Amino acid sequence: MSLKLGDVVPDFTQDSTIGPFRFHEWAGASWVVLFSHPRDFTPVCTTELGTVAALKPEFDRRGVKVVGLSVDPLDSHARWADDIATSQGHALNFPLIADGDRSVSLALDLIHPGASDTTTVRTVLVIDPAKKLRLTLTYPASTGRNFAEILRVIDSLQLTDRHKVATPADWQQGDDVIIVPSVDDDAARALFPDGWAAPLPYLRTVRQPA
Ligand code: BEZ
Repeated sequence: MSLKLGDVVPDFTQDSTIGPFRFHEWAGASWVVLFSHPRDFTPVCTTELGTVAALKPEFDRRGVKVVGLSVDPLDSHARWADDIATSQGHALNFPLIADGDRSVSLALDLIHPGASDTTTVRTVLVIDPAKKLRLTLTYPASTGRNFAEILRVIDSLQLTDRHKVATPADWQQGDDVIIVPSVDDDAARALFPDGWAAPLPYLRTVRQPA
């Protein structure tokens, strides 16, 4: 059964570069980005892991823990880590799960047999502090991910969890946001006393709340 948005991501225990990895215990009360990559020692994946290592302060700032995963064994992850550090200028600073028996990959729907029977797809899961799945993105093996977009979605999720707003297309931090349709105009006047713009009755925009 595939995981759907809003589902609680099941707990699991698996080997990792930081020792036995107990997912729910490790996640604690943090947001989590779990991202799978097809194979170790492949060029696109090498750039992705270096990029995520470079962005670690950005994930930390948002209260997000990051973990990578593939079906490659632990000794392979350890040897590949050297290549990542030397070629990308950033050493791994987050755990990599070694899902040799594919138990986690199968539970999280990270093996798509039409793409490959043996390797994990290039997927990103964003999981909130309640362990609920909030975003899934699956890319082709030949396309490296845009991790700035993952940070942008996390910013949107964290903002829209705090306020009754949604974020429009291509929204970036500081841009105007949309008052959610479930808030009627009377309630909106209390929440947004400075008013809003309404190019359409159902499209009401306000400055991004703090
Ligand atoms: C890569 O990470 O470079 C890659 C992995 C699988 C297929 C193609 C590229």
